Amino acid sequence: MNPNKALWEKGDFTRIAETMRKSGEALVNSLDITTGLKVLDLGCGDGTTALPAAQLGADVLGVDIARNLVDAGNRRAGELGLGNCRFQEGDATRLDGLNDRTFDLVMSIFGAMFAPKPFDVAREMTRVTRPGGRIVMGNWIPNDPTLVAQILKISTAYSPPPPEGFVSPMTWGIEKNVIERFAVAGVPAARITFTRDTYTFNFPGAPAEFVAVFRSYYGPTMNAFEAAEKQGRADELRRELEELFVRQNTAPDTRTTSIPATFLRVTVSV
Ligand SMILES: C[S@@+](CC[C@H](N)C(=O)[O-])C[C@H]1O[C@@H](n2cnc3c(N)ncnc32)[C@H](O)[C@@H]1O
Repeated sequence: MNPNKALWEKGDFTRIAETMRKSGEALVNSLDITTGLKVLDLGCGDGTTALPAAQLGADVLGVDIARNLVDAGNRRAGELGLGNCRFQEGDATRLDGLNDRTFDLVMSIFGAMFAPKPFDVAREMTRVTRPGGRIVMGNWIPNDPTLVAQILKISTAYSPPPPEGFVSPMTWGIEKNVIERFAVAGVPAARITFTRDTYTFNFPGAPAEFVAVFRSYYGPTMNAFEAAEKQGRADELRRELEELFVRQNTAPDTRTTSIPATFLRVTVSV
């Protein structure tokens, strides 16, 4: 089994995605989506951004490597009666079956960054975008003080070293890496813009309960806990994560959780 696929089919990412819906909608609302726009959402999960884009009238294809998330996306589109949004399984490093120059907008919000072989990902995203179209990526930023980079930093200290040649997904949050990857795909740096943006995780429970959701349902955190358990350090990891979530919680009521996280928004004009 492809380890990239296994990681995301592990657990149930929909449980985390549920806490990101509002920010997903806000991001999509900023993309000037018009009726009939052809949109590819790559690494779409269960449709946090794909569904709002379809609600704005776009013709949306969601592609994700995880079967369970593709199924969840199609279920959600059906429940919303959105005939203009469908989800299918696929790998961002090789978009088999998708023709060159097809989409007006290729968006990938914390999606394609998680695929291995980043140069292949940049090439494929560029290939399927029509000239004059856009690629918009949301990428977490390494060593950023906000939630996601800090979860990763803490988890890494409990996890075995990555295999040789592993390229961290977080390198998509470094501007010079993004420029280099798209340059190899034939897009000059002048066509790429970067901004810092914020996603807020909203959870209807206390921060410690939110950590428990990550521990039970989020593949990367599940793996970190499995590694920590083998060393008898699972409680230590839980405590560190709980302290982080409590520290970053901005909800006025400590029985609920609202945590903003900074990301790099990349816009590429193809
Ligand atoms: C952090 S989740 C984000 C999902 C979604 N974009 C959202 O905002 O809720 C990362 C997603 O990327 C998908 N993914 C990881 N590697 C992939 C690959 N090689 N090709 C396509 N999707 C991939 C995962 O299955 C998962 O749904």
